[in-house]
Amino acid sequence: MIKETDFLVIGSGIAGLSFALKVAEHGKVILISKTTLEESNTKYAQGGIAAVTYEPDNFEKHIEDTLIAGDGLCKREIVEMVVSEAPAQIKQLIKWGVNFDQNEKGKYDLGREGGHSEYRVLHHKDNTGEVIQNSLVRKVREHKNIEIFENHFAVDLITQHHLGKLVKRSHKDTECYGAYVLDLNTDQVNTYLSKVTLIATGGTGNLYDTTTNPKIATGDGIAMVYRAKGIIENMEFMQFHPTSLYNPGEKPSFLITEALRGFGAILKTIDGEKFMNKYDKRGSLAPRDIVARAIDYEMKISGDDHVHLDCTHLDPEKLKNHFPNIYKKCLSLNIDFTKDPVPVIPAAHYMCGGIKVDKNGCSTINRLYAAGEVSSTGLHGANRLASNSLSEAVVYADRAAKDAITKIKDVELKKEIPEWNAHGTTYPEEMVMITQNYKEVQQIMSNYVGIVRSNLRLDRALRRLEIIYKETERLYEKSILSQKLCELRNLINVGYLILKMAQGLHESRGLHYTIDYPKKGTISEF
Ligand code: FAD
Ligand code: SIN
Repeated sequence: MIKETDFLVIGSGIAGLSFALKVAEHGKVILISKTTLEESNTKYAQGGIAAVTYEPDNFEKHIEDTLIAGDGLCKREIVEMVVSEAPAQIKQLIKWGVNFDQNEKGKYDLGREGGHSEYRVLHHKDNTGEVIQNSLVRKVREHKNIEIFENHFAVDLITQHHLGKLVKRSHKDTECYGAYVLDLNTDQVNTYLSKVTLIATGGTGNLYDTTTNPKIATGDGIAMVYRAKGIIENMEFMQFHPTSLYNPGEKPSFLITEALRGFGAILKTIDGEKFMNKYDKRGSLAPRDIVARAIDYEMKISGDDHVHLDCTHLDPEKLKNHFPNIYKKCLSLNIDFTKDPVPVIPAAHYMCGGIKVDKNGCSTINRLYAAGEVSSTGLHGANRLASNSLSEAVVYADRAAKDAITKIKDVELKKEIPEWNAHGTTYPEEMVMITQNYKEVQQIMSNYVGIVRSNLRLDRALRRLEIIYKETERLYEKSILSQKLCELRNLINVGYLILKMAQGLHESRGLHYTIDYPKKGTISEF
């Protein structure tokens, strides 16, 4: 089957949905999501969305905080652009029905998180993401120009390569004509042709066995663009959130928002010692890279499986009112956070790198945009400031939409694309090959490419990943495609990129810490 459209949007988180709503006024949109529209990283966001709203906050302070967290690798002009454009995009979210908490005077109730020098995080209780996701999904489902394909999995982007031409990463004229998409209801791979395509497939947390990310976060967009010969960058900067709930076996790990530390909660060892001030004068509210590393270190020294987040000194009613979902979740495990410390551990949370894009979200492949967590814009540098990702996603969705609306006037659909060739493929005999390799990849990445790295660990990880890569490619060539097989292949691809970029960075910076080069001072080669 062949489908044709003006705008092809792959992914239904905040980036894909808000882009779709904007471009739908100017042409036909096809929106693809690998499960339901409702499922995304966005849905699980707790803390909120960072933007300057009231004095004494101002753009300079938000810019400075973002640059400090990014440890010298943010692009200043991008930081200035996102910070100054975020308030207008947040107004747009409010127009689409997103309801942020207000105080009794009718002013927005602003939260605070690690690395922020002011209260500036707009939120809805501790389920901001769910409120954003539901409001946008409602609008998208109502829009007559948006055709929705749920349970559809984008497999690969279509470029000149599919017309038999050589495509190289160094080429400037590579073009994207759409995507091959697996219909998970029929196991058929169909061809979606589009004037422009947006990749908004979110993060890669499932590369690690402990992650806050839902199952959908398997790095598909990054892997697709890498295979299509687009440029990927900054992959060594995987952010570990310092505080996910320690509840072995639960996947994904339940997040304990940083806003709780912004509210006054304090990190302690199991023995009840406050430890963060040993590492940073900002204590429990230091930027994430510093806090996650400190927790990792304390756990290694003590041999404990977790540390504690203590809220017991805070007003119990205010706590319950502000964080009702965390209260409920902890209570279900017999932890009353108004009386008991909450056991927490770091978990893989956010990919700061990704598909390299310019100010308008254009990737290095023509007619292909990327927005949201899948992209690398220059905003986050070596470490993302908390709650900056939702703001980045809406600002870039807006910029990409404006650019794409003008671009479609000058491009035509490429029609002579061959359909997907499944000739000679069969269903894999044993799915355990796929599920076992998936787990092995997670173990390799967790054991050797986590919060603290070394040359020895990275080399060992690469050797092991290469074995799994070869096995999986052999299987892929002869198999009828399944979601699990494609995701495994994508994770291996993304793991490889993280490893190669981590090996090329001979220093410790932001989220990349290696015991072989513990100091800052860039030698980067990839
Ligand atoms: P996502 O929201 O992840 O959406 C990706 C979409 O792409 C999904 O619909 C998925 O199904 C689809 N998809 C993926 N691959 C394919 C494929 N191959 N084919 C078809 N569809 C595909 N950030 C903040 O700024 N503030 C917060 O408070 C905050 N809290 C967070 C809490 C948690 C628990 C988590 C996990 C993240 C949090 N983040 C927060 C980060 C933030 O939520 C994400 O970075 C952001 O939501 C990403 O949005 P997105 O639109 O780029 O992607
Ligand atoms: C949180 O609420 O702690 C997550 C915020 C973020 O990842 O930006």
